[in-house]
Amino acid sequence: MIKFPIILQNMLIKLIFKGNYLTNLQIMTTNQQSRRSFIKRTTAVTAGVGAVTVLPASTIFGKPAPSDKIGVALIGCRGRGFGSLKDHLAFDDTHCVAMCDVDSNILNDRAGEVQKDYGQTPELYSDYRKMLEQKDIDAVIIGTPDHWHCLNLVDSVAAGKDVYVEKPMANTIEECNIMVDATSYYDRIVQVGQQQRSNPAFIQSMELVKSGLIGSLRKVSLWANFNYGLGATPAMDEPVPDGVDYDMWLGPAPARPFNRNHFHGSWRHFWNYGGGMFSDWGVHLIDIGLWVKDQVKAPTEILTFAANNSGFSKKRDTFDTMTAVFPTKDYVINYDMIAGVQSGPYDNLYGVALIGDKGTIKVDRGGYRIIPEWDGDKKEFMIEAKEFKKAKESHGQHVRDFLDCIKTRQTPSCPPEVGRAAALHVHAANISARIGEPYLVWDDINNRFSNSEKANSYIKPDYRAPWKLPVIG
Ligand SMILES: NC(=O)c1ccc[n+]([C@@H]2O[C@H](COP(=O)([O-])OP(=O)(O)OC[C@H]3O[C@@H](n4cnc5c(N)ncnc54)[C@H](O)[C@@H]3O)[C@@H](O)[C@H]2O)c1
Repeated sequence: MIKFPIILQNMLIKLIFKGNYLTNLQIMTTNQQSRRSFIKRTTAVTAGVGAVTVLPASTIFGKPAPSDKIGVALIGCRGRGFGSLKDHLAFDDTHCVAMCDVDSNILNDRAGEVQKDYGQTPELYSDYRKMLEQKDIDAVIIGTPDHWHCLNLVDSVAAGKDVYVEKPMANTIEECNIMVDATSYYDRIVQVGQQQRSNPAFIQSMELVKSGLIGSLRKVSLWANFNYGLGATPAMDEPVPDGVDYDMWLGPAPARPFNRNHFHGSWRHFWNYGGGMFSDWGVHLIDIGLWVKDQVKAPTEILTFAANNSGFSKKRDTFDTMTAVFPTKDYVINYDMIAGVQSGPYDNLYGVALIGDKGTIKVDRGGYRIIPEWDGDKKEFMIEAKEFKKAKESHGQHVRDFLDCIKTRQTPSCPPEVGRAAALHVHAANISARIGEPYLVWDDINNRFSNSEKANSYIKPDYRAPWKLPVIG
């Protein structure tokens, strides 16, 4: 059989599909993914978006010429967003051209750091829509709270930019759907920040399971026990701090008085902005439970127990204690979370156990351990015990993968379909717990829960005017 390079294969497949745009991953999963008919790429695509950016590779003295560098912009500069920007700027072929934050104190501090550490002077903005008009932006990093991801991403891809969007992909099921569709429609490269996909410990563990080392995979056990899941110390409502555009921070979320407990960093414990520790940390772990079988789809059955059982006086909407079970055809994914308890199975406060007939692979960001099963008849271990430590930090590798894909136009390691699959597990379980219906059945073809109208009312967010849930196409 003639083997074409992947880029040619994609072009051929796209030609065969006569203009229907399919990403690599959609090509692989068309059979299982019939949620929506694929969006036709029409000639009516927003001006300036149609052309595919393939950046030239010319260099000066072995380094990319300034004009060949990928112009990077950041929306949301305080925490992970700025970390991600630094991971981008660690590579020679990038430069920071713009930064945006609704808190001018943070924006100015972070811009000062970029100037000091990288000698670069990005344009500064408080409204990301204005920033997206800047022509030299090739890639946008989205580091805002989860309730903003959908609008930020859709506007960015519609403006012709490639996007690195932090996980969880969005705060509701429908926003995830829209983001997948928008990425296809505008033909952009989008990498979701589930960086474990680029971590050697997880990559090798996946390969080992797929090679059959541990026999039949029976169960993927996931757990996350962290203090921060308890929420923040209760605080009184107060006037909006100087330099903060709070209305723009709230964006599509319901209006409420300013409260530090719901703001920077702590927003993740309130349903209007985030999904608690399950969507914050659990989404990384669920991703591994799906990747191990190359599953790129939503859950079918969801069984959830959740409660607020801790005695600590922290403030949150979300749960501190949760168990969610996702059965699949031939294995089961189980997620356990006890916020405030700083220990866990295998002496790890978070982790993944890939449990098979012949042994278990216990993996976290620092490495993996193979724990063999004992064969009572042969009086020997079924497989060899092994330990792999010092996995390299994977944020940088995940960013590198994104930057390479910007140049080659290939699908990155965590495209939106993968981000959606992981996020839907988390959101479905959170919905189940919120409505007190422990068993839900998700119908991915019709994009609804088939056994609960109450659950269906949580699929779409109710955006605060003037913000509108984007419509693609
Ligand atoms: N991949 C990872 O391991 C990882 C780790 C931590 C956080 N995250 C994700 O990163 C995202 C940010 O989390 P964080 O902890 O850094 O939050 P944060 O509250 O520390 O920072 C968010 C920033 O976004 C700004 N912001 C809010 N609305 C904005 C808007 N409309 N325009 C511009 N700026 C706006 C805020 O002012 C703040 O500076 C979240 O989605 C989170 O889940 C990912």
